[in-house]
Formats: sequence, C-alpha cells, structure tokens
Amino acid sequence: MNGESFLDLLSHRRSVRAFTARPVPREALERLMQAAVTAPSPTNRQPWRFAVVTQAALRQRLTEAVRTRAEEMKAIIRQGHHAEDFGKYGDFFHEPLATAAAIIVPQYRIYPDLIANLVASGGGDPTKFHTAASMQAELCSTSAACMALLLQAQAEGLGACWMSGPMIGRDEIQRLLDIREPWKMVGAIAVGYPDELPAKQPRKPLAQVVTWFEDGPEPREAQT
Ligand SMILES: Cc1cc2nc3c(=O)[nH]c(=O)nc-3n(C[C@H](O)[C@H](O)[C@H](O)COP(=O)(O)O)c2cc1C
Repeated sequence: MNGESFLDLLSHRRSVRAFTARPVPREALERLMQAAVTAPSPTNRQPWRFAVVTQAALRQRLTEAVRTRAEEMKAIIRQGHHAEDFGKYGDFFHEPLATAAAIIVPQYRIYPDLIANLVASGGGDPTKFHTAASMQAELCSTSAACMALLLQAQAEGLGACWMSGPMIGRDEIQRLLDIREPWKMVGAIAVGYPDELPAKQPRKPLAQVVTWFEDGPEPREAQT
C-alpha cells in the first residue's frame, strides 16, 4: 500500500448507521480491538478500555437506555420552537445502535500528570506550564484508538458509526456495563455489516483548515 492508496482507503470510510442481521465474527472484532490499541498515547500510558457488546439482550437494553432519554428530550424540545430541528437529529441518538451486531463503548481514564508532579517536586508551580492535561491527552489518545478501530472495520468490510448521541443515556449505560470512576465513556461505536451505502459527506477545503508555514524559494544570489 502506498500513500495514495492509503488516502483512497481513508476517503472511502463512511459513518454507517444501518446494518444487516449478519453477526460479526469474534475474530474480526478482535482485530478491531487490536487496531484500536495501536494508537499512540503519552508515555505509552494506553489510557483506554473498551466494552464490546454482542449479547442481543444487552444490546437491546443499551439501545433502549438511549432511546428513552432521546424521547424525554424530544418531549421537552417539542414545547419550544425547535421541534423540527431536533426531529432531524433525534433518531441519530439511538438508531444506529438498534441494528448494530456489536456495540463498542470506548472508555478513558485520567492519570496523574507526570510532568506537573515533577515540576512540583522541584518546588515549582505546575500551573505555570501547560502540560498534557491542558490538551486532555488521555481523551485524545482514546479518540485516536477509535479512529484506528473505524478504519480496521472498513478494511474488514464492516460498517461503523462512532456516536456521541448515546452519551444522553450515559448513567444507565455505565450502570449496565459496570463502568465506574475513574473510567469515562467516550460515546459508543455501532458496528455491523452495512445495510446502506452512505453518501460521501463534504469536507472543508484544505485552504480553509490548513495554514502552511514553510520556507519559500531560496533568495537568488545578487547578480554581479
Ligand atoms: C465524536 C463523534 C460523534 C458522532 N456522533 C454521532 C451520533 O451521535 N450519531 C450519528 O448518527 N453520527 C455521529 N457521528 C458521525 C458523524 O455524523 C459523521 O462522522 C459525519 O457526518 C461525517 O460523515 P462520515 O463519517 O461518513 O465522513 C459522530 C462522529 C464523531 C467523530
């Protein structure tokens, strides 16, 4: 695989939200998890953990937990002027979970800030330095793991959708999956064999999101 073919793979990834009833083999799910843990993390702390749910009854309870909260929210929003706006998004809270053969719940935890502690041990004020904590490094690492998982899913011929929507059912989901402090869930990833071919979603042009700081052409020697 070269640079162009890898970019081609990346640009064909889609968030898939509807799945067939075909179960995902355990070996494929294990490769997804192996892909996830290839992600980089500060001092290789690997601040992540994953619940992989294929059990039908539990998947249904997770989906219901999110659906119930979405309905509660819908009822409140209906009383305002934005019911239609929410109507467009409301289903995206739970719908992909409903047909997913596997629901993966990524989690991260925060570790003591190593560098800040070293500064403090030298009598310094760690708040005077921006350290890994200031960029939520553990969350960043876990997000990188999720992206690796999405790409592995694509390579396996699976579809996947990483979703923040399920956060509305967080308390119940954490109870069902026994997720406790210091672990925090990072949404949920619906996985299964695709039952739809989603359209490519547009991206902002690079000119809008990239600022280049580069050396220009070498100045020419003055002609004598
Ligand atoms: C952190 C995160 C949260 C997302 N939450 C949801 C969600 O709750 N429901 C959903 O249907 N899609 C969700 N998505 C998928 C986005 O809608 C999707 O990535 C975006 O529209 C671009 O489409 P593409 O992934 O097919 O390129 C989420 C994506 C990310 C990265």
